Amino acid sequence: MNIASTIQETHAVIRAARKAGKRIGLVPTMGALHEGHLSLVRAAKEQTDLVVISIFVNPLQFGPQEDLAKYPRTFERDCELLERERVDLVFAPSTAEMYPPGAITLVEVQGLADRLDGVSRPGHFRGVTTVVAKLFHIVEPDVTFFGQKDAAQSAIIRKMVKDLNFPVNIVVCPIVREPDGLAMSSRNAYLNADERQQGLVLSRALKKVQQVFEAGERDAQHLAEVGGQIVATEPAAKLDYLSVVDPDTLEPVRDVNHPTLVAVAAWIGSTRLIDNVILHPR
Ligand code: PAJ
Repeated sequence: MNIASTIQETHAVIRAARKAGKRIGLVPTMGALHEGHLSLVRAAKEQTDLVVISIFVNPLQFGPQEDLAKYPRTFERDCELLERERVDLVFAPSTAEMYPPGAITLVEVQGLADRLDGVSRPGHFRGVTTVVAKLFHIVEPDVTFFGQKDAAQSAIIRKMVKDLNFPVNIVVCPIVREPDGLAMSSRNAYLNADERQQGLVLSRALKKVQQVFEAGERDAQHLAEVGGQIVATEPAAKLDYLSVVDPDTLEPVRDVNHPTLVAVAAWIGSTRLIDNVILHPR
């Protein structure tokens, strides 16, 4: 497994792979890897010939009051896990390599970037699209892999790729959960034992919404209320949003008569958790 910290080293590996006619797969991450990330790695291994994982805690997508400084960094363990998955290249640049002094260009998917998490995290999605656009240029992947866990993020990246004609196919992989239903996340490491239990309220709320939907309810507002009521049963949870939206435009829907995204974000103590489910009407 190659580990590159510079764009130049990465280009050398990519150029050689291209010459050999290999299809390149990219999995962008911020490290602190778990089974959710590894599911993307495995999909990339299956579908492409040279698998590149980027590990970069991107300062541009953290707000000034957010957890950039304490975000878990477990680089050596990440590399061991990736070695076991037979990943070809880990691209782990420094902040100065990605954002040299004087870099001022940003990529923003207007409108979408202000929905869901974009409301309480202004600038977050602009940071994501800027770094992902850079990673696409650096690695030039044929296929790139994202998780449904971050549903708004994948919608926004799909739109960026379409609007800016990036020659890349996007694969979105299902949410990987702990056995009790908690969606895996690097931020779960922040939770103490009590909070870990309290965090289950997100997946419980989504499950209830799904049940009520399957029993025939199609009114989006009512479905959102049902989910909100479940979150309210957990006093330690502070709801940020529970929204019933179009999975591409992230705009609220009135009735669920197309595949519809139900997304939730809540604070458990000082940790912000997100989760979602897609409702599929027959
Ligand atoms: P990070 O949170 O490290 O996630 C990297 C990728 O793993 C994302 O596509 C995310 O959706 C996916 N992922 C995380 N948890 C998952 C789970 N439980 N099941 C399936 N997939 C999961 O998302 C980011 O990093 C950053 O914003 C990034 C795209 C790398 C840009 O900096």
